[in-house]
Amino acid sequence: MPIMNKMLERALNTRRSPHAGEDGASGEDEGGEETADESKTRKHTSVAMRVSNYLIRTGYIWPLLIMCIAILIISSLVIHSRDLICISALPSHHVSRLFSGSDGLESDFGSLGVPWCRSKLGKTVEWTKEDLLKGLEEFVPIYETRPIKNNMYGMGFDHSFGLWFITRWVKPELMIESGAFKGHSTWVLRQAMPDTHILSLSPRHPEKYLKKGPAYVDGNCTYFAGKDFVDFGSMDWEKVMKEHGIKDHSRVLVFFDDHQNELKRLKQALKAGFKHLVFEDNYDTGTGDHYSFRQICDQFYIRGGGHSCFKDSDEARIRSRRKKLWEKAVDIDELCGPGEAWWGVQGHMRDDFNHSNKAITYAEHFQNSRFVESVLDVYWELPPVAGPSLTHQTRYDPARAPNPIVEDGRYGLFQRIGLSRLETSVFNGYTQMVYLQVSEPEA
Ligand SMILES: C[S@@+](CC[C@H](N)C(=O)[O-])C[C@H]1O[C@@H](n2cnc3c(N)ncnc32)[C@H](O)[C@@H]1O
Repeated sequence: MPIMNKMLERALNTRRSPHAGEDGASGEDEGGEETADESKTRKHTSVAMRVSNYLIRTGYIWPLLIMCIAILIISSLVIHSRDLICISALPSHHVSRLFSGSDGLESDFGSLGVPWCRSKLGKTVEWTKEDLLKGLEEFVPIYETRPIKNNMYGMGFDHSFGLWFITRWVKPELMIESGAFKGHSTWVLRQAMPDTHILSLSPRHPEKYLKKGPAYVDGNCTYFAGKDFVDFGSMDWEKVMKEHGIKDHSRVLVFFDDHQNELKRLKQALKAGFKHLVFEDNYDTGTGDHYSFRQICDQFYIRGGGHSCFKDSDEARIRSRRKKLWEKAVDIDELCGPGEAWWGVQGHMRDDFNHSNKAITYAEHFQNSRFVESVLDVYWELPPVAGPSLTHQTRYDPARAPNPIVEDGRYGLFQRIGLSRLETSVFNGYTQMVYLQVSEPEA
C-alpha cells in the first residue's frame, strides 16, 4: 500500500467511533433499540467504507480527488470570467449598471457599458434622484402651459425638463442659448429663471415662425438672430459680458442646441471662460449630425478598447437584436465604416448638421477624449424621465441610456407625477442631454 494511502487509512480510523471494530461494526451490546439503530448505520457505513476502502486499495482515490478539485476550479473560473473586464476606472453607478440587468436590457451591452466621460477629480452633481422626482412633479404642470405644443425638430419633454432643472439649480446670472428654432428652449429657460436676461443666437429669428403658427419671443432677451446673427465662436464675449454687467463668466449658463461639433463648442466656451454648459443632442456613437461628447468618450477607458466590427461578434449579434426593438439602435453595419472605423460616426467627425464630415484617425479621436477629460469638472447625462413601458417610446435604446428617473413598473408614480397626462410623442426625442462643468486643463 502506498504511503499516502496508509496515512489516509489512519486518518479514517481516528474518525471512527472509539467503539467501532475494524470492520466498522459496533463492539457494544447496549440493548435492542440501540442495536437496531446501530445496524442501520452500520449498513450505510459499511457500503461507504467498502467503496472508500476499495478506492484506497486500488489507489484510484487520488486521481478522483484531483479531478473533483480541477472541475471545481474550472467551473468557478468560467462563471467569473464574464466579469473579468477593466472596471477599476468605472464610477460605482456604472459598475452596478454593468452587472444589474434586472430587465435583461442593461446587461446586454456587457463590458461595452454605457458611454460617459470621466471628470478630472471624479466630482459629480449635487442633486439626487429625489430632487429630480420633486422637480418632475413641479415641471409637468409648467410644461402643459407651453406655447408651442408641437415642437417637432425641437426639444421634447425629457430635455425640456432637463434644461429647466439644471438651470434652476445653477441659478446663472445670465443665460446664453445657441440654436433657438421657434423659441421653445427660450421659453424653458424663462420658466426656470423668470427675471434673468437671455442672449439667443440663431440664424433665423423665432418671430419669423409666428407667421406660420405658434412660436415664442421673449421680452427680456437679446437676439443675435436674422441679420444680427453671430455664431457663438465669432462673438466678442469679453465685450458682450461687459455690456451685460457680467464680471464672473463662470456665473453664466450656456445652452447649445445648434448641432455643431461639441468639441469645437467646448473649446470656444473655455476660451470665453464659461463654466456651465448644457448640450442638448449628446448623440450616441454611430448616430447624429455632429461630433458629441458621448462619441468622444465612448470606449477609451476599456483596455485594448473599441467596438467590435467583426460580423460574427457578440456585439454584432446584440446590436442586430436591439435594432429590431428600437428605431434609433445602431447595428454593426451602421456603426462601422471602412477600415473598421467605429469612432464618431463611422470614423468621421461630423459638424454643422452634417454639412461638414471629416474623417479622423483613431489616434486623433483618442486624443480628443484625453483633452475632454482634462477639462471636465463634472459630466452628467440627464436620464430619460421614465422607462419605455411607461412612456411607450420606441426610438432610443434604453440599454444605451442611464436608468430612467421613473423606472419601468412604477406606473403609480408615473401617474402621480402627472406624466400619464402627456402625449406619448413628447417622450420620443431623448438623446442624452448632458450638463458639463469645465475649466482649463491644469498646467
Ligand atoms: C434643433 S433646432 C433648436 C431647437 C430649439 N432649441 C428648441 O428647443 O425648440 C436647431 C437650431 O439651430 C439653428 N442653427 C443653425 N446653425 C446655427 C449656429 N451656427 N448657431 C446657432 N444656431 C444655429 C437652426 O437654425 C435651428 O433653429
